[in-house]
Amino acid sequence: MTNSWVNHAGRTGSDLHLDLDLDPAGGGSRRAVLGRALREAIREGRLAPGTRLPPYRSLAADLGLARNTVAETYAELAAEGWLVARQGSGTRVAPGARPAAAPRGPETVPATCQPPAHDLRQGLPDVASFPRTAWLASARRALNTAPHEAFGPGDPRGRPELRRALAGYLSRVRGVRARPGTIVVCSGVAHALRLLFEGKVVRGPLAVESYGLPFHRSLLEAARVRTVPLTLDEHGARTEELPALKGVRAALLTPAHQFPTGGALRPERRTAAVNWARAAGGVLLEDDYDGEFRYDREPVGAVQGLDPQHVVYLGSLSKSLSPALRLGWMVLPEHLVEPVLRAKGEREAWAGVTDQLTLADFIESGHYDRHVRRTRQRYRQRRDRLVALLARRAPHVKPTGVAAGLHAVLNLPPGTERSVAEAAARQRVAVDPLAGFRHPAATMPARDGLVVGYAAPPDHGLGPAFDALCGILPPPPDGG
Ligand SMILES: Cc1ncc(COP(=O)(O)O)c(C=O)c1O
Repeated sequence: MTNSWVNHAGRTGSDLHLDLDLDPAGGGSRRAVLGRALREAIREGRLAPGTRLPPYRSLAADLGLARNTVAETYAELAAEGWLVARQGSGTRVAPGARPAAAPRGPETVPATCQPPAHDLRQGLPDVASFPRTAWLASARRALNTAPHEAFGPGDPRGRPELRRALAGYLSRVRGVRARPGTIVVCSGVAHALRLLFEGKVVRGPLAVESYGLPFHRSLLEAARVRTVPLTLDEHGARTEELPALKGVRAALLTPAHQFPTGGALRPERRTAAVNWARAAGGVLLEDDYDGEFRYDREPVGAVQGLDPQHVVYLGSLSKSLSPALRLGWMVLPEHLVEPVLRAKGEREAWAGVTDQLTLADFIESGHYDRHVRRTRQRYRQRRDRLVALLARRAPHVKPTGVAAGLHAVLNLPPGTERSVAEAAARQRVAVDPLAGFRHPAATMPARDGLVVGYAAPPDHGLGPAFDALCGILPPPPDGG
């Protein structure tokens, strides 16, 4: 995002003057900046409870944003309890969203706009189990043994110690065919996408899944990459449709565990994707964001193993350890290594050397495997608990997708997603409605659903959070 994106909305809707200070200084996507500005306006009382917000289209036009960015921000704020959306009467500031009468200082939040009582938003691992002691031991060993040159300007490929460790780990655990020379360290999947597209290493239009991470879509939009949605079902994206997409020679997929709907790409679709990339002279981008977390069987290996010259494999620590470390990696086809390095520049500007060396030691000493094993067991138990609870209390609400990952998607009866999101807002249960993940140009039928993250709540908060979740689900269709 550029600094020029400081914008004030003037007269936006038919009945509303909205003065929003969209200051990107706080960082994040456009959606994050807009969300912050709206929360701030509500908190300060500039947007009073009951105030109607402008329709997506007019606010988007006023602010120079994509309509979808505004729609997703409204949905997010509704899920958090700041806004309510009602069929026919638009989106309004929630009746309870009052500013505090006497602000006590910068920390003050409106009494009824506290943080959610239960936070089941997807995205976070169990950050409380970050292995501090083992990480510290690795950091100490790494610093004691690093050569002096490690503290120089930094190699844009990443430290050789880390690339060696990753090559071994990814090959052993994910079936990735990697040499240290084809790995480039970066700060995460988002950074990898920026390098690939802003650096014009890969060019659009890009096929993406009809449901995906909105943050990645806005990042691609910012890099002026047109995305073309592929339909998907319980077996992942319909990659057999790729040859029919005119001018498309790149596709971004989440094969191990479709994000967020949860299917695993079935074998013939994996083959179809690779065959298409070969025939089109194109490339598949494989986002393996949670590939280690499969519970019903051994994880299926990465698609990259089928054809390393036509697949860019993307991974990071964000689900397995912490999204705050900002460490990730790309395993590249040989011919893309140099272009990516050119896009990165002469020095390592993103991934700090101490974290890289620490991670190398953490992997080589077996601590990473141990941590993944431990958290896998923990997440699996949590998922099982959620599935069992739903079977008992809301058998008409089915979790979809394979048993994997840090979130589940609950299929809701058709037409109920919006009212469930409103009930969530009222009960201060933070969850992500599925609509927020849908590509604006998707043509497949929309599904009603909730994306529920179960990894992050503390143990003592999980039962109450799941109880509260059951409380916002619609009654069974027959009313029984
Ligand atoms: C679909 C998807 N891909 C990738 C990532 C990881 O992104 P990053 O490595 O930029 O933190 C996430 C979130 O953790 C995700 O949900």
